[in-house]
Amino acid sequence: MEIIHVSAECFPVAKAGGLGDVAGALPKYQNKLGHTAKVVMPMYRTKFLYQNEWELVHEGSQNSGSHYFNYSIIREKTNKLGFELYLVDINGLLDREKIYGYGDDTQRFLCFQIAVCDWMSRWTYKPDIVHCHDHQTGLIPFMLKNCFAFKHMADVPTVFTIHNAQYQGQFSWDKWNTLPSYDAYTWGGLDWNNAINPLASAVKCAWRVTTVSPSYLDELRYQAAGLENLMEYERGKCVGILNGIDADVWDPSKDSMIAKNYDEHDVKDGKRKNKKELCARFGLDPDKPLFTFIGRLVGEKAADVLPDAIRSSIYHHHGKVSFLILGSGEPDVEGRLEEVKDQFSGFVSTFIGYNESLSHLLYAGADFLLMPSRVEPCGLNQMYALRYGTVPMVRSTGGLKDTVRDFGEWQGFGIRFNNASVEDISYSVGRAVDLYYNKKDLYTWMRSYMMHIDHSWDASASEYIALYESVKV
Ligand code: ADP
Ligand code: GLC
Repeated sequence: MEIIHVSAECFPVAKAGGLGDVAGALPKYQNKLGHTAKVVMPMYRTKFLYQNEWELVHEGSQNSGSHYFNYSIIREKTNKLGFELYLVDINGLLDREKIYGYGDDTQRFLCFQIAVCDWMSRWTYKPDIVHCHDHQTGLIPFMLKNCFAFKHMADVPTVFTIHNAQYQGQFSWDKWNTLPSYDAYTWGGLDWNNAINPLASAVKCAWRVTTVSPSYLDELRYQAAGLENLMEYERGKCVGILNGIDADVWDPSKDSMIAKNYDEHDVKDGKRKNKKELCARFGLDPDKPLFTFIGRLVGEKAADVLPDAIRSSIYHHHGKVSFLILGSGEPDVEGRLEEVKDQFSGFVSTFIGYNESLSHLLYAGADFLLMPSRVEPCGLNQMYALRYGTVPMVRSTGGLKDTVRDFGEWQGFGIRFNNASVEDISYSVGRAVDLYYNKKDLYTWMRSYMMHIDHSWDASASEYIALYESVKV
């Protein structure tokens, strides 16, 4: 089967979060199953672009309203990622250093989607599945179905994955003519709450919709940033498929970004060496349990609760703990974390920014990984933590609920709590401290046990294939 993944991110080409990890791994695993999965994404100005060889495969031109643009498609020559990778270059719009965060993002991703549809519509054959990810690609199902220019593609099945329903990409109806022309009566396929809403449009128009964990699909019926009714209405074509991890990239026995490789047989020693390296670098005490948080410092991740939760944990547990935070996001949260770091130097350290290799060292060297997320559609961090023998401490929500079992339960291997609050986090830190200092055998067993759990894409890649089979024409 030929599957075209369309995504705004794909590791290692360009990544801002978990979407990049998924788009860089799922196609690889689908190819291993004997299919042909390819990735199409925007051409940003990233290192990967300059370090690899490309060939030009297509040049075209299109317009979005009155904006006429040329585009070209280039292909990475060696397929070194385990799949064919195509980048869409639109001069002046996409070739920038950051993926998102520009005032004209709506126009950037709209032109990207138009270029992708235009290019595909010129092929001499049709792909079996077009699989779109998140709102930056959410108008493709509508466009393939309804825009006159692409109408002969209307019978190509589309699958849309919601990685995060908080971000919907909506824009005003004033811009109705920025899409290639379509029959006026199909406008309902774009609309949600009197705006053009790419995420809602995809839920309406894609042949099948997936969410990145089964629990998240359930939650979207009552917490979907305004799309609750739509999710309930379209429930019949939605399915929750848990994300996996790329077990080649995230493997403590081979990872070149960590200080010492290890596996479940020498987890204690291996982790200790990585922890020492981290603690030396960040001025922390390697004899205390090390808690980490890795991620976007935003409300969704409950990063705003961290500064007070850290303070409270240090007071309540008499300084028997260390914290190391890696992330960037809301300036207020960044500032408050820096204050805690200054107040508790030697107990708390931070790295404000994005650092892929430091994240690997943290998964390897930390003892506990905190994820108090208010919303977590799947979450990959906790699965990386499990693979590296780091105990995940998660709020019971979305994918966290589907992947972490509390150690108070039969064969539990993590810590779960209910509220993104200072009290719940501090209480959970207490349970972790007890485990670390007083229940050493259990702690050792948990770490080896969790490293055995297979969260690779093997199982979920097949679930996607079964879903594609069910709609393939
Ligand atoms: P989300 O996509 O919502 O941010 P996920 O848990 O799905 O959350 O994925 C986050 C990914 O981004 C993981 O690979 C994590 O290690 C990585 N990540 C997040 N913030 C940082 C950072 N500051 N530095 C390095 N990696 C980060
Ligand atoms: C989103 C979600 C995260 C998920 C990731 C990959 O960014 O916030 O929970 O793991 O997508 O699907």
